[in-house]
Amino acid sequence: MDSETIEKYRQSGKIAAKALQHASKLIKPGVKLVTVCDAAEDKIRELGGGIAFPTQTSRNEIAAHYCPEDDDETVYQEGDVVKLDVGATVDGYVSDNALTVDLGDHAKLVKASREAVNAALKIVKPGTTLGEIGTAIQTAIEKYGFAPVKNLSGHGIGHYSVHESPSVPNFDSGSKNELVEGQSIAIEPFASTGAGMIQESSNPTVFMHVARRSVRSAFGRDILKDIESYNGLPFTTRWLSRKHGIGKTKFGLRELVNAGVIRGYPPLPDVRKGLVSQAEHSVLVFDKPIIITKLDE
Ligand code: CO
Repeated sequence: MDSETIEKYRQSGKIAAKALQHASKLIKPGVKLVTVCDAAEDKIRELGGGIAFPTQTSRNEIAAHYCPEDDDETVYQEGDVVKLDVGATVDGYVSDNALTVDLGDHAKLVKASREAVNAALKIVKPGTTLGEIGTAIQTAIEKYGFAPVKNLSGHGIGHYSVHESPSVPNFDSGSKNELVEGQSIAIEPFASTGAGMIQESSNPTVFMHVARRSVRSAFGRDILKDIESYNGLPFTTRWLSRKHGIGKTKFGLRELVNAGVIRGYPPLPDVRKGLVSQAEHSVLVFDKPIIITKLDE
């Protein structure tokens, strides 16, 4: 990785971290989820970044992928465990970070995922195996008596790419695959009071363009034009419905899903409805790793 690319990742990470900090301060009982997501995305733009993926804010047993529609009246409640997951780009270079806000008495649960990500970051360097990263995460979470979510993992990040290899396990997977100098990865442990396994629910609002195919209706074609402008990065219903109206947007999205042009990513609840916390940072792998989403560096 050349120094220019490193600098772009650093800028991207700084923007994602500032947007995450800014929006997380708005998370309070009675505040609408959509207000917080808009605040994060507005902040990214204000700081000169691009949006890597729609900001997501998942509550309680939902680990990830909750992204409110424009007319979603859901508000945060007293007692909630709230995840906020924010990503930015600079010249297409993706950064990804997340944290948990505790609106109840779940301090230990929040600490478990935060300590897990820090334990993993501490051993990031070329040659560390993915199994060792997973073990560090699992150990930190189990110390608090919680379960790491095993079927969610960290991931490589890249140029206009939010999810690529390697998959970074949140438990001792036994993988002997090693981290490689110059890799860019996001480490994102989830701690659960339940099963430590998530499943897909329904009604996705996060989508990604997965295949180039023609579509029949004018609605579908109009919406596809916007989707193409996202450069293969994920997008959400709200962005489209604000321009095209909700009826046309839903019709178009349904057609594109059915044609296999886009794929939906529905909310992911813990299978036993345990409460879930999350922490995430993006890091460049070097002997002296660069945690691009840490603001104090
Ligand atoms: Co991520």
